[in-house]
Amino acid sequence: MTRHMLGLHGVTAESLGMIMERAWRIRQNRRQYREKLKGKLIAALFFEPSTRTKLSFELAAHWLGAEFIHFPLETSSRVKGESLLDTILTVTAMGVDALIIRHSNSGVLEWLKEKVDVPLINAGDGAHEHPTQALLDLHTMYHYFDSLKDIEVVMVGDIQHSRVVRSSIWALKTLGARITLVGPPSLLPREFEQFGISISWRLDEVLPKADIVYLLRIQQERQQKGLLPSLADYTRQFGLTAGRLSLLKPGVLVMHPGPVNVGVEITAEALQLLRSWPRERAQVCIEHQVASGVVVRAALLDYLLGEESHEITA
Ligand code: CP
Repeated sequence: MTRHMLGLHGVTAESLGMIMERAWRIRQNRRQYREKLKGKLIAALFFEPSTRTKLSFELAAHWLGAEFIHFPLETSSRVKGESLLDTILTVTAMGVDALIIRHSNSGVLEWLKEKVDVPLINAGDGAHEHPTQALLDLHTMYHYFDSLKDIEVVMVGDIQHSRVVRSSIWALKTLGARITLVGPPSLLPREFEQFGISISWRLDEVLPKADIVYLLRIQQERQQKGLLPSLADYTRQFGLTAGRLSLLKPGVLVMHPGPVNVGVEITAEALQLLRSWPRERAQVCIEHQVASGVVVRAALLDYLLGEESHEITA
């Protein structure tokens, strides 16, 4: 049976827990895992830009002793019109053990999984899912909370275009967290209400209840004309500004998947103030999230490709 990580929709608490547990074990004793994937060859095909996801998968593969290759998009036959399926079949025919794919088309990995017989790992597909981002966020949250049950998570920003939100809400709901999505009406579809998720158009009203404030990147590359009056207007209404810090609960976590548009989702002044505050007052976790990315992606690679590999249960 081929083991994939396509998304977190429907993934059980048991599967999430097993990946989290393996990530903790790797974090505590990395040396024990350094030959776990020796002899495996993992290929990364990124059809959209990435710093964190691509590099952390590569580091994770190195930690586990696997070989890692990047598909060189700009110098490939893609520029001569080779289709996506042709590219994928060509790469798999060369004998890789797993494919990590980022692509702008939502659901493209679901379509590909019927056509290939190697594990596929979703590194972000359109506005659909970004499961490993949500997993690394869970790993970071568990550093600060023993349980996510009844934890209030407020996710702020461009909900419409966010694959991070979609993966996160499935996992957080499964683990019992309460979620509120906040953003301008033009970027906040009401479809999420049917899943028991609160929505709000007023950040100031929901900030005081948040145990975790999760700021989303304003995706300027995905904005259609007219969805936002201006970035300055967005920051005035939905940015974490120095003026809004007084609304935060003591001990709140402030998270962001990166890359941060400083001055848009959070102002430089607010970021600097938060970084200077003691843990009991607030904690900015952005670097912690990045570090968790390597650990969690190593856990996932081992989970899918290692000797004690598992299928993700849904
Ligand atoms: N958070 C995230 O996916 O970052 P990259 O686009 O840099 O991979």
